[in-house]
Amino acid sequence: MAAARARFRSLAWGTLAYTVLVILFGAVVRITGSGAGCGQHWPTCHGEVVPISPTIETVIEFSHRVTSGLCGIIVLALLVAALRGFPRGHAARLGAWLALVFTITEALIGAGLVRFGLVGDNDSVARAIVMAAHLVNTSLLTGALALAAWAANREPGQARGGVSRRVRWLVWASLGGLMLVGISGAVTALGDTLYPVEAGALSERLQRDLGAGAHFLQRLRLMHPVLACGLGFFTAVIAHHLGNAAAPAVRRASAWVMILVFAQLAAGVLNVMLSAPGWMQVLHLGLGTALWVAAVLFSLELLHAQAGPDGHPRPDR
Ligand code: HEM
Repeated sequence: MAAARARFRSLAWGTLAYTVLVILFGAVVRITGSGAGCGQHWPTCHGEVVPISPTIETVIEFSHRVTSGLCGIIVLALLVAALRGFPRGHAARLGAWLALVFTITEALIGAGLVRFGLVGDNDSVARAIVMAAHLVNTSLLTGALALAAWAANREPGQARGGVSRRVRWLVWASLGGLMLVGISGAVTALGDTLYPVEAGALSERLQRDLGAGAHFLQRLRLMHPVLACGLGFFTAVIAHHLGNAAAPAVRRASAWVMILVFAQLAAGVLNVMLSAPGWMQVLHLGLGTALWVAAVLFSLELLHAQAGPDGHPRPDR
């Protein structure tokens, strides 16, 4: 049984790592304008199962479909392993079930983007909303996989810790805040793809973005850095405040959250200074995903830590 659980744990971490690569490849599809590489056809590509004489955009879009389809198969294998290795009600099963649900909804959102023509140079409000929903779904998917991997080490029925309602509220508030930052980032990324940032002084760029005739995606550009600085610092402060005097596992997770918040804030500033080149967008999304996963793991450690009389996690367990 112990060997089966160790195998499940490796499979869960491997699935998470592979899913992150697929997410980053999704950004490459957007950046290269390849979302319409298979026309408005889904699941076929230009009406064919395998495209014949494809363009570069078709190769990129088709590869994204194949690699994300493979993700579905791996998540299904993870669920089978969870059902075999863990009893009913175990958190590893919950994580694997949720991962399957969010993989299916991810495929539906991707299909919706293609079937409703929300690709290429479409700059509608509908596309911005679906891109935001896409970001929420990928965050829930990586969160579910992190839960499955984390739970593999836990005994069935292992009790939750007794942290106070205030601590739980702070944990959920910082996760919600990060999700909001991600959503605003996804909308900014769409704006940067459709209305590439022109080089120039920051004040000139701001004037252009907020001036008469600017598209709503340009007007929203300022929102993400403002939200990211405020909510990013909030997340780092919460991680420090709740993780500082806690058990080693909580402290380690809190240190990762703080490191990744500051790395991501620095990457965001660099992104703006360099006018968001494609490679920087991929790096920024990668760091953002790593930060989200670290925040989920920190929250899980914290919510299951044993608490002292003040409701805060205790340093010894
Ligand atoms: C905690 C901090 C931050 C998080 C979690 C975060 C997250 C994100 C996410 C998820 C995206 C969408 C990426 C995509 O879909 O490809 C994004 C885009 C973007 N972010 Fe941030 N961000 C943070 C801080 C910042 C800061 C401080 C700035 C600027 C000063 C910034 C500038 C941008 C820009 C310009 C984009 C659009 C271009 C791109 O996709 O990279 N970000 N961010």
